[in-house]
Amino acid sequence: MAGAQSQQWRDRYGPWAVVAGASEGLGAAFAASIAARGVHLVLLARREDRLTKVADELRAAHGVEVRVVAMDLAHDDLLTNIATATDDLEIGLLVYNAALSAIGPFLATPLATHVTEIAVNVRAPLTLAYHFGQRMATRGRGGIILMSSLSATMGSALIANYAATKAYNMVLAEGLWEELRSRQVDVLACRAGVVRTPNYLNSRQEDSSSSEGRGGMLPSQVAEAALKALGHGPGIIPGLGNRISAALLGRLFPRPGAVRLMGSVMRGMYGSTGPKRQNTVMKPPSLV
Ligand SMILES: NC(=O)c1ccc[n+]([C@@H]2O[C@H](COP(=O)([O-])OP(=O)(O)OC[C@H]3O[C@@H](n4cnc5c(N)ncnc54)[C@H](OP(=O)(O)O)[C@@H]3O)[C@@H](O)[C@H]2O)c1
Repeated sequence: MAGAQSQQWRDRYGPWAVVAGASEGLGAAFAASIAARGVHLVLLARREDRLTKVADELRAAHGVEVRVVAMDLAHDDLLTNIATATDDLEIGLLVYNAALSAIGPFLATPLATHVTEIAVNVRAPLTLAYHFGQRMATRGRGGIILMSSLSATMGSALIANYAATKAYNMVLAEGLWEELRSRQVDVLACRAGVVRTPNYLNSRQEDSSSSEGRGGMLPSQVAEAALKALGHGPGIIPGLGNRISAALLGRLFPRPGAVRLMGSVMRGMYGSTGPKRQNTVMKPPSLV
């Protein structure tokens, strides 16, 4: 990004950004792209050692200030912790990237896991969007990106609750995009297809070194696409192939057929009982 453009971006979304779920993968890629635009960062996640590593790299590469906040976004005291960690800063951008999913049959997954999924994927983005959105609206500038997924489009076996939480993020972002426009706050839902993050690779039953299952976008590509799309509409599907898949699935199949197809794709990827290796983040099928 050229100097003048970078300055414009900082004026609109700086001087500080919060990235929730920034210790690796897509969240770390968002942090790198934001730092490259000269915006200071608050990085949130549970693993402090990983956050510190990301922060050290960004300070060295881009000369920005980085604050590390190790916290569990599923906890009830989320709002107090966020406020304590950031109240002295002017936050112009929020990226909510963290997510939890247990991939597997709905009824075989403990109810407590589903409830935690709601806390991380729904309550926390709602809380952060509300908290920082109020301050942005008062200042009359800012941006909010909520990570959704192509799986938000419809129900899907093995990830029923996860997909529903991603639908929540998509619909919340669309509503806020319209509502906060007049306050000069840009809101965007990023509906990613497969992203080659450590979480995604670990979720596959194949080894990440195997050629099977290759594909998907790089985290840096998705982060850049979302940051560029902010301020240009309520949502983005990064990647032409993903946009085509989403359009075709929505148009070619009646909804029950599409939902059944999604279920087949998920069982093809993970087996009928879910992945052997459990992960913290859900991986949507490559078809949608
Ligand atoms: N990867 C894909 O293929 C894909 C596709 C579509 C959409 N998405 C969406 O993209 C986003 C990123 O997914 P990803 O797989 O790429 O993951 P990621 O960005 O590689 O990592 C997820 C981040 O969330 C943090 N996190 C998870 N649970 C947390 C909690 N309770 N409290 C605080 N931090 C927490 C993790 O850090 P700690 O473990 O250190 O807490 C990590 O930094 C998610 O919203 C996901 O739904 C991903």
